[in-house]
Amino acid sequence: HRTAALIVAAGQGARFGDALPKQFLPLAGRPLVAHAHAAFAGHPDIDAVLVVTAPEQAAMLEQAVPGARRCDGGVTRRESVANGLAVLAAEGFDRVLVHDAARPLVPSAVIDALVAALDTCPGAVPVLRVADTLARADGRLGEVVPRDALVRVQTPQAFRLADLVAAHRGWPADAEATDDAQMLRAAGATVATIEGSTMLDKITYPADLATAEALLAGRMV
Ligand code: C5P
Repeated sequence: HRTAALIVAAGQGARFGDALPKQFLPLAGRPLVAHAHAAFAGHPDIDAVLVVTAPEQAAMLEQAVPGARRCDGGVTRRESVANGLAVLAAEGFDRVLVHDAARPLVPSAVIDALVAALDTCPGAVPVLRVADTLARADGRLGEVVPRDALVRVQTPQAFRLADLVAAHRGWPADAEATDDAQMLRAAGATVATIEGSTMLDKITYPADLATAEALLAGRMV
């Protein structure tokens, strides 16, 4: 197999409220995107890493990860992934791990498990059980939603490349997709789940950076 990691980093980071998009903010002295890039580049099952950024972020990526391969993203995450998939398909890769740059800490055991799952399934995602009580709310508290059947879905998400390309092609252009695994599932394919990690939690708010630095300081992966 030829397996690529596709890191989507073309977001503008609107929710974070910072001038610099969050994927370029420093975490333990290195830009966020550099952490995930290093995790994939250093993994024996990953043959190439491609980063998707906005055209105007090219210089920032070069500074963050000198020599990193990149291509242009789109207006939505879905378009950014599709652009990257087109590049990788043309280069003959047959497996891809799609990953958010906003999730800097990627345990190598997660990559191991995802790659292994692709031997039997066209897609695989890391998931974590939900610890908190879940409830509906609409200004005031509503009824509890049973959480035993619910999981949090993270990235990286691993796919047989041809299947994910087909799922993207079949997806309605005007519909938004929460992630790639949902698109594959909607196309009728089985997506396996593997055990996720709190290290993979997305950096969404400034306080998440401090949490990630603490996790990194104590990391044993
Ligand atoms: O904004 P959110 O955290 O959901 O974005 C998830 C990931 O998708 C981020 O790494 C972001 O940079 C990326 N993204 C992208 N192209 C877009 C929007 C988001 O690559 N147009």
